[in-house]
Amino acid sequence: MKITIIGTGYVGLVTGACFAHVGNSVTCLDKDEKKIEKLRQGKLPIYEPGLKKIVNENIVNKNLFFSSNTKNSIKKSKIIFVCVGTPMKKDGSSDLSFIKKVAIDIGDNINENKIIVMKSTVPVGTTETILKIINKELLNRSKKYIVDIANNPEFLKEGKGVGDFMSPDRIIVGLNNHKLKSVFKSLYRPFSVNHEKLIFMDVKSSELTKYAANAMLATKISFINEMAIIAENLDADINSIREGIGSDSRIGFSFIYPSAGYGGSCFNKDLNSLISFSKKVGLKPKIVNAVNQVNLNQNKYFFNKIIRRFKIKSMRKYTFGIWGLSYKPDTDDIRNSISINIVEKLIKLNSEVRVYDPKSLDNAKLYLKDNDNITFCKNKYEAVKGADALILLTEWLEFRSPDFKKIKSHLKKPIIFDGKNQYDKYDMQKRGFEYHQIGARTL
Ligand code: UGA
Repeated sequence: MKITIIGTGYVGLVTGACFAHVGNSVTCLDKDEKKIEKLRQGKLPIYEPGLKKIVNENIVNKNLFFSSNTKNSIKKSKIIFVCVGTPMKKDGSSDLSFIKKVAIDIGDNINENKIIVMKSTVPVGTTETILKIINKELLNRSKKYIVDIANNPEFLKEGKGVGDFMSPDRIIVGLNNHKLKSVFKSLYRPFSVNHEKLIFMDVKSSELTKYAANAMLATKISFINEMAIIAENLDADINSIREGIGSDSRIGFSFIYPSAGYGGSCFNKDLNSLISFSKKVGLKPKIVNAVNQVNLNQNKYFFNKIIRRFKIKSMRKYTFGIWGLSYKPDTDDIRNSISINIVEKLIKLNSEVRVYDPKSLDNAKLYLKDNDNITFCKNKYEAVKGADALILLTEWLEFRSPDFKKIKSHLKKPIIFDGKNQYDKYDMQKRGFEYHQIGARTL
């Protein structure tokens, strides 16, 4: 099939590359000409495991094309996926200006009947609004093409996006015209080989399914984080509790890892958007609101551990070694990263930070800019040299079993703050570390 993807951000790029990889002819369109030029040369703007390989293979195979020519790209394919951003506005609602611009572009340029598939995360009702905008443009042009619209939310986890696309748990498609089912069945057959993954529903339910999924995942995290604080204050251990509840198959082990809070570009934005569009129909979702609040507190709770330990108010200049800057492992994405937030807070308090991350140092340098209090380190051991404590904030694999003797010899005092509970507290005690983690008292 011929497919055009509008927007080559994280979602658009993974979607385009994976559709091309199973044999479709895919054109990825983006208004950012520099980005498109680099993509043509196989240079990716993001780090995502496995993506570069399939992008390059499919450029060579001539299954994958990159363009900044809106007119040609829209005309080229019968199916157009919309994958542009819906960033959060100051009031918490979603900024739909990119989406609306795309709708106008589509209405202005289509030359035949088309199927428009909304993959961007959009407030309930937006997909239908987009259809109205397209039809209005067509009316202005006195054209009578039939435009069908579908909502097909993405459930890709950064760092695991290619795997998630190639072997999804489910594929949600919201349709108002049920005749389109066959198109989606054939489009997604290569990804449903093991068993049928498609779940059809109406467009609005599909839009809300995306928000409900992210809200549920964020709820699990905030729940365990709230339990963690209770556990710590009662001298219980959240790590044991996690195992105790996760082994109940109704609860499960995933997304109940305690942390210094969730980060990234999705959960906070989507939960705020959900609250915002619920408000428009007179509702105040209590759980979703609490989930975001608990998350904000979680970051403070972790940071306060450091403040209390070092009595930072009467602070002389401390140095902290930071392990991990990306908001999660296997990505170079630092958007809403808890780690970056903690680095900024420490600097404000006049501390020095020595930071290390396997993939996101360049992004962090751009974001944090030149600051005399930050040293960007080439490896994890350099980051702890002469530091008063190590603070671990992203659970990259290379941090799981480090050389503790080396860490101890580099640190001024053997103190570790672990925002991802990577180590065993008894083991750390035996090794002579003062080990602070989430949801358990320091031994
Ligand atoms: C999330 C969803 O998991 C995807 O299904 C969804 O498609 C995506 O948002 C989106 O809307 O685009 P993502 O933000 O890439 O994916 O990453 P997650 O793996 O969900 O992690 C989000 C944050 O939660 C990270 O900061 C992570 O460290 C944190 N987390 C995750 C925890 O603190 N504890 C956990 O148990 C799991």
